[in-house]
Amino acid sequence: MVTKMTSKEHLDEVLASYRECPNPRLVQIMTSLTAHLLAFVEETGLTRDEWMSGIEFLTATGKKCDDERQEFILLSDVLGVSMLVEMVNQKPTDSATEPTVLGPFYRPGGPELSMGDSIAPDDSDGQPLIFSGMVRNASGEPLRDAHLEVWQTSPEGFYDVQDPALDPMSYRGNFTTGVDGRFFFETVRPVDYQIPTDGPVGVLLRTSARESWRPAHTHFLVTCAGYKTLITHLFDASSPHLHSDAVFGVRESLAVDMNHDEASFDLVLDVAGESPVN
Ligand code: BEZ
Ligand code: FE
Repeated sequence: MVTKMTSKEHLDEVLASYRECPNPRLVQIMTSLTAHLLAFVEETGLTRDEWMSGIEFLTATGKKCDDERQEFILLSDVLGVSMLVEMVNQKPTDSATEPTVLGPFYRPGGPELSMGDSIAPDDSDGQPLIFSGMVRNASGEPLRDAHLEVWQTSPEGFYDVQDPALDPMSYRGNFTTGVDGRFFFETVRPVDYQIPTDGPVGVLLRTSARESWRPAHTHFLVTCAGYKTLITHLFDASSPHLHSDAVFGVRESLAVDMNHDEASFDLVLDVAGESPVN
């Protein structure tokens, strides 16, 4: 009697198709991805209709992407994948600042400003706020020539690229530390905002009765020669959405009191090559 093929034999047959692949890392990734994907189909007993819904969802996600909009990154964010990628790749030592997601609204080439300048337009109607602190290493030594890229939304909850009323590069600015490692700049208090929900990711959130809010935050990308790049946010500790971030990016250590004129926080970088992952 001919025995019926088992799902294990099916998996082995799919995996064997990579045996001539010359790239071992690609083989490792495809082996793990295939094993998890096939196990998911089997565990859930995925129906043909559900499989088709998934295909249609991914197709719609691709169609929503253009030069400005990256719906696949947004999908990765709300699935918790983006944050886990950061956790795996940016593991800080105990004394270094915790990382979080870069997000889809990072733009390189922000204006290079002087310490004390404002990243907000002169006519901004937000609540004025000064961010200050030191870029330092775990031993407390100030880091000179650390480059900070900072960005946030307007008080209306939109990034410059989302709101035609905003000049390009509004609410963005770059700063370079001097010998004392200190930074200080003006802005307005960041506000809670909703991630874009006018695409398939929005449909997923609504269908799943999930939140689309991100708690108020300002983004920082800090680079310094000899140190690991830090990608993080500082969150407003008073935000009502601190415990329901749509993209799972909040870390308690990044919550800062923004109720006053000035919010202070030291950005602590790991020496390159010292932390578990570099
Ligand atoms: C952001 O913080 O800019 C962001 C992160 C993930 C998804 C949407 C926005
Ligand atoms: Fe953001």
